[in-house]
Amino acid sequence: MSEPVTLSFARLTAAPKGVLIVLTDETLAFGAQTQKLLKGAADAAVTRAFDAERYKGKAWSTIDLLAPAGLDAPRLVVISVGKAGELKPADFLKLGGVAAGKIPSSAREATVVLDLPGAKIGPESAAEVALGIRLRTYSFDRYKTKKKDDTERGALAVTLLVSDEAGTKRAVTAADAVGDGVLFARDLVNEPANVLDPPEFARRAEEHLSSVGVEIEVLDDAALARAGMHTLLGVGQGSIKESRVVIMRWNGGPAGEPPVAFIGKGVTFDTGGISIKPAAGMEDMKGDMGGAACVTGLMYALAARKAKVNAVGLIGLVENMPDGAAQRPGDIVTSLSGQTIEIINTDAEGRLVLCDVLWYAKEQFKPKFMIDLATLTGAILVALGSEYAGLFSNDDDLSERLATAGKETGERVWRMPLGPEYDKLVDSKFADMKNTGGRHAGSITAAQFLQRFVDKTPWAHLDIAGTAMSSPASDINKSWGSGWGVRLLNQLVKDHYEG
Ligand code: BES
Ligand code: MN
Ligand code: ZN
Repeated sequence: MSEPVTLSFARLTAAPKGVLIVLTDETLAFGAQTQKLLKGAADAAVTRAFDAERYKGKAWSTIDLLAPAGLDAPRLVVISVGKAGELKPADFLKLGGVAAGKIPSSAREATVVLDLPGAKIGPESAAEVALGIRLRTYSFDRYKTKKKDDTERGALAVTLLVSDEAGTKRAVTAADAVGDGVLFARDLVNEPANVLDPPEFARRAEEHLSSVGVEIEVLDDAALARAGMHTLLGVGQGSIKESRVVIMRWNGGPAGEPPVAFIGKGVTFDTGGISIKPAAGMEDMKGDMGGAACVTGLMYALAARKAKVNAVGLIGLVENMPDGAAQRPGDIVTSLSGQTIEIINTDAEGRLVLCDVLWYAKEQFKPKFMIDLATLTGAILVALGSEYAGLFSNDDDLSERLATAGKETGERVWRMPLGPEYDKLVDSKFADMKNTGGRHAGSITAAQFLQRFVDKTPWAHLDIAGTAMSSPASDINKSWGSGWGVRLLNQLVKDHYEG
């Protein structure tokens, strides 16, 4: 919601303003321009500070000097990047986050000198630093009516001093598109469910994405019934809110080329339904639309940076409530695919939403591949915590590409098994299948259920219950909703279609 930072870019030789942030490495060396800035008394002050702290320049460790001798700056911050020659894009992103975290909330101006000994920081890397600053300083404060003067940041202007000003500005345009997508996704996840219900989610998607040239189609209850998405509608039938499916199309690739498809679970609130959840922590279930938020943020990013790809995003938006009209355990529903499903537990609702949207995506768009994202199971948190999302796929190549993009962006995925032994656990006595697979391997049986709706289409399912929300604060995220997956899938598209 709030982004208090304005970023600008200037030549390396420009005069710094405000808090001065410079870089060093594990040998405690400075780049040529930094040496010019820190000469004489300033150099001596830095050396004394290093000695006083027994500073070794370990990666991401920092030193702060207040009102340093020989400098106009109110504060000098030295950040070590460790081995300067081995930095990857994700490291520059982290550097931006670390730098932003070192600017005190009282500061109104800061300058980061992107200069390292023996390694030039190019435009792409500088753009990652800028993105890291934006992601770090985001906070969702729409509903705070009072500002805490001592801890909350006011307006802050940060200047990055870079070796290639024009090139950096170009690279930042693309990085800003991705940043806007991530922050849009975070906003959606952070919003409470009384504000962000399915119709409101659809309205925001339409408003935001049409502004960057995405074609949007919104299916309401009546249209969903006509289309035959009765399994999705069954989840929403206990809510006074209508359900929605939003279809977002970005055609940046060759005309007629089949699209890649991204599908998101968008349960705007998950009470569990008649199989109601315990009260403790239920408020977190406002984030059960993290998959849909990611797909929406991703489609925004692809369009805003005019990615050369045909992509379609589909999100299933419902609210899962207990009510006289709600679905019951034991009910049998017919999915869009024609396959029947016995509802065992109304809290296993995500797969019921996704199965109709996956089938619809496959039939309507014949995509090259489909990737779905869903806060699908608590079991994936048990298995992987918040470090990796669970990856389930019928395609080794797609899995490899996701793993690579994960390493590049730091949004990492860990492949989990699928197989006929797990598949048979969702067979039902009364219908073609049931919506739970028993106590064991809960994330896998959920994925097996989804696989029954993808046929031969190359498909990957990302279980993001551990990464989309409530994950530990990091250098680039202090917000509850992380916007996880936007950077990962943007990178996948980039590597595959624009590499
Ligand atoms: N939305 C939950 C999964 C979840 C749990 C997301 C914790 C984020 C944090 C999902 O709809 C759910 O309730 N899954 C059940 C499935 C079970 C009933 C088979 C679960 O994980 O317990
Ligand atoms: Mn549930
Ligand atoms: Zn859920």
